[in-house]
Amino acid sequence: MSSAPEKTFYLETFGCQMNAHDSEKVVGTLVAEGYRQVPTVEEAGLVLYNTCSIRDKAEQKVFHRLNDYKKLQKQGKKFGVLGCVAQQEGEKIFERAPYVSMVCGSASYRNLPAMLVQIEAGNTRVTGLDDRETDECFETEFTARTNPHRGYITIIEGCDKFCSYCVVPYTRGKERSRTSESVLAEARQMADLGYTEIQLLGQNVNSYRDPAGKRSFAELLAAVGEVPGIRRVRFTTSHPRDFGRDIIHAIDAVPTLCDHVHLPVQSGSTRVLNAMQRLYTRDQYLERISWMKAAKRDISITSDIIVGFPGETEEDFADTLSLLDEVGYDGIFGFKYSPRPNTPAIGLVDAIPEEEKARRLTFLQEKQRELQRISYRKHIGQVLQVMVEGKNEARKQWAGRTSQNKILNFTAPEDASPEHGSYVPVRVTVAFPNSLAGELAV
Ligand code: SAH
Ligand code: SF4
Ligand code: F3S
Repeated sequence: MSSAPEKTFYLETFGCQMNAHDSEKVVGTLVAEGYRQVPTVEEAGLVLYNTCSIRDKAEQKVFHRLNDYKKLQKQGKKFGVLGCVAQQEGEKIFERAPYVSMVCGSASYRNLPAMLVQIEAGNTRVTGLDDRETDECFETEFTARTNPHRGYITIIEGCDKFCSYCVVPYTRGKERSRTSESVLAEARQMADLGYTEIQLLGQNVNSYRDPAGKRSFAELLAAVGEVPGIRRVRFTTSHPRDFGRDIIHAIDAVPTLCDHVHLPVQSGSTRVLNAMQRLYTRDQYLERISWMKAAKRDISITSDIIVGFPGETEEDFADTLSLLDEVGYDGIFGFKYSPRPNTPAIGLVDAIPEEEKARRLTFLQEKQRELQRISYRKHIGQVLQVMVEGKNEARKQWAGRTSQNKILNFTAPEDASPEHGSYVPVRVTVAFPNSLAGELAV
C-alpha cells in the first residue's frame, strides 16, 4: 500500500540574472526528476539556495538563511548550496554549516539528477565542484521559465577577464559560448511558445564567440531579432573592451533590438581602471559612448560603478562624477568596493574606510538622481511603445516597460484595459528620476 513519499523542494535565488536563469533550469531539472516546487522552506524536503558571492554582503546572506533554518534539519530536511558561494567556498561549507548535504557550482548543474539520487540515498556530502574547466554550457530542455512573455537565454558562461576585484572568473570558470544555432533554436522554440521578448545573457555577453564560427555577437543579435514572433531583444552585460561598432549597426538595422546598452564603466579614472585591470581607459570608454550617441536610434546607456577601490583619491572620484555628466546615463548601479577572497585586489593597500565609501556612494547616487530628474523629462509628450507588465490596482495604473528599459506607468480607459504581455502605445505626461507616467494613446 505504501507509496514513496512525495519529493518537494524550495529554491531561493540570490545574485544576477545569470543566477535567476540558472534557477529556472534547476527547477526544470528537478521537476523532470519528479520533485514538486513548494513556496516555503517549511513545506520542503529539500531546501536549495542559489547563491551569489560578488560582494561580502551577498555571501553573508546565505549563511544567515542557513542559520535561520538550522533547527529544521532535525526534522529531516536536507539543505543544498548552489551557485557562486558553493563554487568559491567548496567543501568548507560542510564545516561551516554541517547540516548542508549538497554543494554544487553552476558548471556542475548537468550532474544534478545524479546528485539528487545520492542525496535521496542519504549521502550527506554530495559535491559538484570539479568542472570549472569544462567547455560545456548548462543546456537543458527542462527550463521552467517564470515569465510567460519575456525569457532569458544564456549564450556565454564564465569570464576570462580577471578584473582585480572580481570573483566571477573563479566562481563561474572559463569563458565558453554556445553555438549560435543552438541559441537560435531556443529562440525559435520560445517564439513558438508565445514569448515575444528575449534577453540574451552572459557575464560579458558581447565577448560571445560562436564555437561553430558562424556568427559574430552582432550577427547573432540580429538573427535573434529576426526570429518571427520576437518583438524585443535585450542583452546584458556588455564589456567595454569587446564592444564593437557592429553592435550599434545591428541595433540601427534591426528594429526588434532594444535601444538600451548596459555598459559598466566601474570608474571614470584611468588610473583606477588600470588598478582594476579593466583593460580600457576613460577615453576608450568614452569613444564607445560616442559611437552610441552617433547612432540613428536614441540608445539608452546604463552602467555599474564601484566607489572606494583601494587607493581611489578624491581626484579619481571626481573623475567618476564628471563621467556621469559626460555620458548622461539613464541609470547606474553603484557599489562600495568589497574585498573578495582569492582576488588580486585583496592584497592592495590604501583601503578606503567604510564611512568614506558610503559617503562617496551616496554622493554619486544623488548626483545621478539629479541628472535623471532632468534627462527623463525629454520623454514628456513622446508616444512610446511599452510591453505591459502588470497593474497596480490601488492606483488604477498599468505598468509597462519601454524599449529603453524604462518603467512607464499609465492609465487606460476601463473598456480598453490592456493585457499582460501586450504592446501598446503610451503618451508620456510626467517624468520622475527613475520612471515615467502617462496615458494609453489610442
Ligand atoms: N561582467 C560585468 C559585471 C559583472 S558583476 C562587467 O564586467 O561589467 C556585476 C557588478 O558587480 C560589476 O559590474 C561591479 O560593478 C560589481 N562588483 C563586482 N565585484 C565587486 C566587488 N568586489 N566589490 C563591489 N562591487 C563589485
Ligand atoms: Fe568580473 Fe571583470 Fe569578468 Fe565582469 S569582466 S565578470 S567584473 S572579472
Ligand atoms: Fe553573483 Fe555569481 Fe552572478 S557572484 S553576480 S551570482 S555570477
